[in-house]
Amino acid sequence: MLYKNLAVNEAGHLTVSGFDTTDLAAQFGTPLMLLDETVIRNRCREYIRAMEAHLPAGSRPLYASKALSLKRLYEVMKEEGMGIDVVSVGEMFTALKAGYPLENAFFHGNSKTDGDIAFAMDHGIGHFVCDSLDELTAVNAEATRRGIRQKVLLRLTPGIDPHTHEKISTGRIDCKFGAAIETGQAEALILQALALPAIDLQGYHCHIGSQIFDHSPFCDAAILMLEFMADIKARHGFCPPVLNLGGGMGVPYTGADGSIDYTANIASIGKLISEVCARLELEPPVILMEPGRSIVADAGTTLYHVTTIKQIPGFKNYAAVNGGMTDNPRFALYQAAYTVLPASRMLDERDFVCTIAGACCESGDLIQEDVALPRPNRGDLIAVLTTGAYNYSMASNYNRIPRPPVVMLTETGPHLAVRRETLEDLLHNDL
Ligand code: LLP
Repeated sequence: MLYKNLAVNEAGHLTVSGFDTTDLAAQFGTPLMLLDETVIRNRCREYIRAMEAHLPAGSRPLYASKALSLKRLYEVMKEEGMGIDVVSVGEMFTALKAGYPLENAFFHGNSKTDGDIAFAMDHGIGHFVCDSLDELTAVNAEATRRGIRQKVLLRLTPGIDPHTHEKISTGRIDCKFGAAIETGQAEALILQALALPAIDLQGYHCHIGSQIFDHSPFCDAAILMLEFMADIKARHGFCPPVLNLGGGMGVPYTGADGSIDYTANIASIGKLISEVCARLELEPPVILMEPGRSIVADAGTTLYHVTTIKQIPGFKNYAAVNGGMTDNPRFALYQAAYTVLPASRMLDERDFVCTIAGACCESGDLIQEDVALPRPNRGDLIAVLTTGAYNYSMASNYNRIPRPPVVMLTETGPHLAVRRETLEDLLHNDL
């Protein structure tokens, strides 16, 4: 099995952290999104411990809530002592409603409105991660109006290409985020920030991409950023205390991905940082990281029922399920790989190769191709693994399909964290 929390019981049913998936499907209906809370908590603890052990004092992880944003998760983040990265008023509002203190939040985004900026300040946001001069100027104006100095990191692009899918690689010079070091725009932005009286420039930020397994792209980014910090210090006498290396550590979606050791990666990055700082005679900065996917992805499992089996002789077979791109758009968007299991028939021979199709009126609405299953029957239960990140958070109501519920699996049982959308919910905004 891909993950330790999965097993098969005597009935041949897939279990997730000891819970029979057919029981969960009967109790909560399908499509159903399961989240193993223990996996999430353990991953938070692993990041916190590894960063404390291997990085300069004060270094800590911030959960990138774009991966999955719901109230229960912010409660878990608060309990685990995680900082958070938020990118919208909606994420901030969800965190606030969960009692998460926004002073531990970093507000990202390349297109913040005056309203977004005011909302964040109204609720005591800890840091802004500013992406441009337009934004810095607006933050400075709002902070001046309030008589405060706002803590800020600047988003810089180090020009590293981590070789992930183009749409999820964000550290390249030509991407829409941040100011590039190579073009001199990063330096200019720093000088502009230093000239703004209500901006308290605390550090630099970079994010090179997502689903990266190896530590070396992070090390490359760290070297570039530290050399840049030393250069700015030498030429302008300014060196901020914080360096945020962004998110991006990968998660195995299938057996082909191999495994990843987060602690070992962080230890390698830490070793490199202390060597480079010593060489540059730089005080080692506090390091922040923003893991999203690697906190929640492998905690998630989606259950569907099979509705239709279609064989097109000489071409391909389809098994259609009662969900699809509305709850998981990642195959449609990125041809993302997933492991699909016959949850109600785990012991049967898997001799039927098929494409798992979604229910939307769109031929690209697929969950996965070339999946080997026991020849499915209508009503069989299918499990898609590793759906905790960028599934529910990217879900939509296309075709007016309600979003599934989210159930947290905990030691005390399964708990409904987000209920299933109702048909009335779909009409909520229609006047
Ligand atoms: N920090 C920043 C500034 C980011 O832009 C991102 C992700 C993260 C942290 C978290 O990265 P992670 O640890 O989750 O890789 N929708 C795509 C992923 C887009 C990621 C965008 N930024 C997907 O489904 O693969």
